[in-house]
Amino acid sequence: MKIAFLAGGDSSEREIALQSAAQIEAALDPGKYDVTVIDVRGRDWHYTAPDGRRWQLDRNDFSLTVDGCRREFDYALILIHGTPGEDGKLQGYLDIMGIPYSSCSMTSSVITFDKISTKRAVAATGVGLARERFIRRGDAVDPDALAAELGLPLFVKPNASGSSFGVTRVERAGEIPAAVERAFAESDEVLVEECIRGREMGCGVLIAGGREYLLPITEIRPKKEFFDFQAKYEAGYSDEITPAEIAPQTAAELHRLALAAYKACRCRGIVRVDFIVTPEGRPYLIEINTIPGMSAGSIVPKQVRAAGMTLGELYDLIIADTCG
Ligand code: DAL
Ligand code: MG
Repeated sequence: MKIAFLAGGDSSEREIALQSAAQIEAALDPGKYDVTVIDVRGRDWHYTAPDGRRWQLDRNDFSLTVDGCRREFDYALILIHGTPGEDGKLQGYLDIMGIPYSSCSMTSSVITFDKISTKRAVAATGVGLARERFIRRGDAVDPDALAAELGLPLFVKPNASGSSFGVTRVERAGEIPAAVERAFAESDEVLVEECIRGREMGCGVLIAGGREYLLPITEIRPKKEFFDFQAKYEAGYSDEITPAEIAPQTAAELHRLALAAYKACRCRGIVRVDFIVTPEGRPYLIEINTIPGMSAGSIVPKQVRAAGMTLGELYDLIIADTCG
């Protein structure tokens, strides 16, 4: 199978996406897959040949011509966090080109990359959802009213972004305007959410070949005030425990809700669903990551190992399920 491996992307998460892509490229079985890595960055979608020369992918027919030799592809493996790989844009393009791909559909990606739409989509699962206010560019922001309504501390987040870029935990109402500005740098819409206190858990989910795979749950214990970019990617700023040390009934409930959220958002491929579990044992949804981190420090690779699988086996399942 000839695979175009779409990597990189345009968002703040580009460097993490390149690390994720390197780890998955190395995990794919070269006996089964003929992989060509395409770095997607704005309108520059290029392949770098071993001699360092760059060749542009022809987006009119999704082919690549290298030194006069034209390659077509059977399949696209998307490993781009954020835009355009996690928000539906590449998915829409590949649908038009008739190329099957490894991730959620365009519709599902649009929903899950939009925190407000995700909350609406999963509401019927019964998972807890933090109260929120939604701010568009140009809306008047009344910090005292927001603090009175949602309590302090609260979170200000870009509605569509990843890896905690632009997220601020706000302690005082006076900090809200600057936090909103930081979030607008990442996304055209901003969420202000009540702070749910509890333990943070992430759960990898895959449905492939008609089978449901619920990976062992990971507890994330940030040593900072929340699991921000530094805590996510620099060693020493958080402990990640897989499988999480939680009661079997809590694990079962998180698995049930992760699967229900996956189905409610009509996901496909490997997805990580993140929760906060309150001291009373109530899980609240944080978000659904449809292109979850796959770097050496990321959570899903640890869950895959804890499940006794390899990343190569995981992608064999995904590719077999989505290749059409
Ligand atoms: N957005 C990051 C890569 C994650 O979900 O792991
Ligand atoms: Mg995320």
